[in-house]
Amino acid sequence: MNLRWLWMLFAVALWPGWAAALSTPCQLKETQYGSVCVCNSSYCDYLEQPELQDDNQIVVISSSKNGLRFTRSEGSFLDKNILEVKDHQWIDNNFVADAVVVEQNKVWLQFANVPQRFAINVNIKTVQLTVQREKRYQKITNFGGAFTGSVSHILQQLPKALQDHVYRSYFHADGIAYNSIRMSIGGSDFDLLPWAYNQLPRNDPTLSNFTSLDPRDLQKIEQLKRLKAVAKLSNLKIMAAAWSAPPWMKSNNRWTGYGQLKAEYYQAWADYHLKFLELMQSKNMTVWAISTGNEPLNGVIGFFFVHFMSMGWTPWQQAIWLNDYLGPTIRKSKQSQVLIFGNDDQRYTYPSWFRKMRTSRSTALDYLDGLAVHWYWDEIFGPHCIDRAHAEMPDKLLLNTESCIGDKPWQTHGPELGSWGRGESYMRAYIQDLLHHFNGWLDWNLVLDERGGPNYVHNYVDAPVIVNTTSRTEFYKQPIYYAIGHFSKFLPEESVRIEAITNETESFPQLSVVGFQRPDGSVALIVYNGENLPVNVALNDSQRGAFSLRLPARSWHTVVYK
Ligand SMILES: *[C@@H]1O[C@H](CO)[C@@H](O)[C@H](O)[C@H]1NC(C)=O
Ligand SMILES: *[C@@H]1O[C@H](CO)[C@@H](O)[C@H](O)[C@H]1NC(C)=O
Ligand SMILES: *[C@@H]1O[C@H](CO)[C@@H](O)[C@H](O)[C@H]1NC(C)=O
Ligand SMILES: *[C@@H]1O[C@H](CO)[C@@H](O)[C@H](O)[C@H]1NC(C)=O
Ligand SMILES: *[C@@H]1O[C@H](CO)[C@@H](O)[C@H](O)[C@H]1NC(C)=O
Ligand SMILES: *[C@@H]1O[C@H](CO)[C@@H](O)[C@H](O)[C@H]1NC(C)=O
Repeated sequence: MNLRWLWMLFAVALWPGWAAALSTPCQLKETQYGSVCVCNSSYCDYLEQPELQDDNQIVVISSSKNGLRFTRSEGSFLDKNILEVKDHQWIDNNFVADAVVVEQNKVWLQFANVPQRFAINVNIKTVQLTVQREKRYQKITNFGGAFTGSVSHILQQLPKALQDHVYRSYFHADGIAYNSIRMSIGGSDFDLLPWAYNQLPRNDPTLSNFTSLDPRDLQKIEQLKRLKAVAKLSNLKIMAAAWSAPPWMKSNNRWTGYGQLKAEYYQAWADYHLKFLELMQSKNMTVWAISTGNEPLNGVIGFFFVHFMSMGWTPWQQAIWLNDYLGPTIRKSKQSQVLIFGNDDQRYTYPSWFRKMRTSRSTALDYLDGLAVHWYWDEIFGPHCIDRAHAEMPDKLLLNTESCIGDKPWQTHGPELGSWGRGESYMRAYIQDLLHHFNGWLDWNLVLDERGGPNYVHNYVDAPVIVNTTSRTEFYKQPIYYAIGHFSKFLPEESVRIEAITNETESFPQLSVVGFQRPDGSVALIVYNGENLPVNVALNDSQRGAFSLRLPARSWHTVVYK
């Protein structure tokens, strides 16, 4: 008997973590707007990373409107039969069929108690999907969400085991493998109150009272330590941004409204950022990147709509602050490795924001390592403004740093629990951005309560995970969580986008695709079917050959192979 094998069996049997590494299915629950996966202290759904056995194996991970959640199917490039991803049922606005059957390229509906089938009068479409690994584009850096004051506050109220499931669901490889968080320096609207460091004493440019971290940040740090341990994540990329300076530094002496940093405090505001970085470092929470400030236009034009902490910058003013104060302060310090991202505002400010910065300080943009964008108006403003900014600054990273649904007057302010449509909005947005040079995406609040808060100005929105703050015993993973997960879970840092194109016409494509080659050489394709009909996909990879798939209605998938 080989002793090494005996030892391994022994180790497996004794190691309690072993059972936890196995995949567990979603506990699907129907809700007002669709369905969610329910997690409690003793149960939550996870999916082990698919290991590819050989060069011909193909693994498809699927989620659908009708109830698939990270469901695994397998096939082989050697198999000439079509791999059909089977869905639970088929739901139209009017009725529910128990199955959708495709025969001789015609689509039929099957009902459990009715012997005959009903034909939908359509042929199933076949879409060619061509993958060329030789054509390579940008690399992935990070995926994550925001650890706001509200997130920290909600998590703190939960039993430890349930908190751990939140951390594991988001950051562990068996969850959706986030490697990054965004946090505010001081407060944001998703806090119980507005706050900043050194609110007192006033008119104190030496920041004499900013000598230690606020208890709210100390609580976050304890939670982040636990998060890293639970998720087995040694390198958490922390991105930080300030929403507002303490009011005494500002022209309007308020948290919100039309107000900018007073010129006499430009150095103090740079020092404030450095201080935060140093104090975080002293707690072993090294910050990976900062931005020049959250949504600078809120304090210049946005104050008609925005009533939470914000501080205005014009691009011309901000270029002066970055070039003459923040940039040199950071680069000459022991925190010089911290990346600096610019803009941190809506897509429609691209690329003009940076062009204007250049006119007031020609070297200001040299201090920027990356460009940060918020997604809120993406459905109105196309990606071409991003393409132009990228063409002008091709070496700078591009990150989406904030996204959520429910901020618009025409949207439900707060969660639409279980909404597949909201998940699809994310799916379309992630695919679009990744096709337009983006290196990663940081979503907004990791968790919120049933109302979409707490938020100190009642600016309630949706989140991928909603916590039951009434019972404090459950949380709900929404379709948005799985939409993001189809990217973040399967695209580790250093994955490279590769060419993956369909033969559909641009105007009304049924299928959207973005493809990547991962650091281990394997391919991951994210494929989205937005129609109420199944679709056949004729995949042809330049190195691996051809393979056929049938994907159900209203579904998204990650297709993985070597
Ligand atoms: C937790 O969820 C599992 C799976 O749905 C269920 O079997 C179990 O009873 C739940 N535990 C509690 C305490 O509700
Ligand atoms: C320092 O800040 C704390 C609040 O963080 C405040 O209670 C205290 O009064 C401040 N000290 C001075 C000298 O203003
Ligand atoms: C930070 O990490 C170092 C080295 O691992 C350790 O010696 C030190 O105690 C840690 N400090 C804190 C505040 O956790
Ligand atoms: C939260 O839990 C309570 C108590 O179990 C339950 O009545 C309520 O429906 C739950 N909320 C949601 C959104 O499911
Ligand atoms: C794409 O390819 C499929 C399969 O070859 C074909 O049936 C379909 O007509 C093509 N679509 C277009 C728009 O050319
Ligand atoms: C796949 O593409 C290659 C060219 O890269 C081509 O030679 C081959 O015929 C294609 N296979 C199928 C089944 O379309």
